[in-house]
Amino acid sequence: MRKSIQKIQNYKKEGKKITVLTAYDYSTAKYIDNAGVDMILVGDSLAQVALGYDSTTDIGMDEMLVFVRAVSRAVENALLVADMPFMSFQLDKVETMKNACELIKAGANAVKIEGSSDFTVENIKHLTQNGVPVMGHLGFTPLSINTIGGHKVQGKDADRTIELLKDALRLQNAGCFAIVLEMVPLQSGQFISQRLRIPTIGIGGGRFCDGQVLVSDDIFGKYDRFKPKFARQYSSLKDIIFNVAKAFCSDVEEGNFPNVNESFTLEIGEIEKLENYR
Ligand code: KIV
Repeated sequence: MRKSIQKIQNYKKEGKKITVLTAYDYSTAKYIDNAGVDMILVGDSLAQVALGYDSTTDIGMDEMLVFVRAVSRAVENALLVADMPFMSFQLDKVETMKNACELIKAGANAVKIEGSSDFTVENIKHLTQNGVPVMGHLGFTPLSINTIGGHKVQGKDADRTIELLKDALRLQNAGCFAIVLEMVPLQSGQFISQRLRIPTIGIGGGRFCDGQVLVSDDIFGKYDRFKPKFARQYSSLKDIIFNVAKAFCSDVEEGNFPNVNESFTLEIGEIEKLENYR
């Protein structure tokens, strides 16, 4: 059974760190789930790492839904969260609710929404008051990259950290069950996490956040167009994939693949009939 939001929230009280990874396809989601991660996020980062777009703003609801359904088929233990993509929640309440419900119907247990403008907070409140769990996302918010002007650390001084805390409290009051804090100084992450009832999930937010999330392609070493400072690369899957593909090509070219065990074969008598065929 998938973990409940209450269970995830209790981890904060118990002092257990919350683990979150992204997944975009069935098999990766299955292995990550079996590894015991607490939450799996179908992040809109998939626009870049899985679909090769330049920006997370390039993906819409139709594409998100395909990936959420695929991941949902695999996830048995983790809480499954789906990102609401660009232009799916900057809409009136009815349209925002419709899009959130489509993600839930596709198999997500909750949605994630970036930002804390008055408009967004009102939409989040509408969702949470009507049964759609929402995880917030503050600090660096990739969907606002055009207003932020690049990958920049947020909350860089005391005043801006206090502003971030106020935004986080507004999201908490709007009913968010957790908040992602992206690219903030570790002291800011600590300051905010200590003052919230709900868990914070850091990504470049330092070790004092209540949990940590990373993009799985970053930790696998599979995506090489951009390497965030905060991502720890545990393997070099891109080299493994490259070497496996190269080995396959040379085996085929040299006649070493397929061998007899990798082929189907006719019965002896049938082979003779073919040999005698004129
Ligand atoms: O899209 C995503 O993968 C995310 C994480 C980086 C938190 O929002």
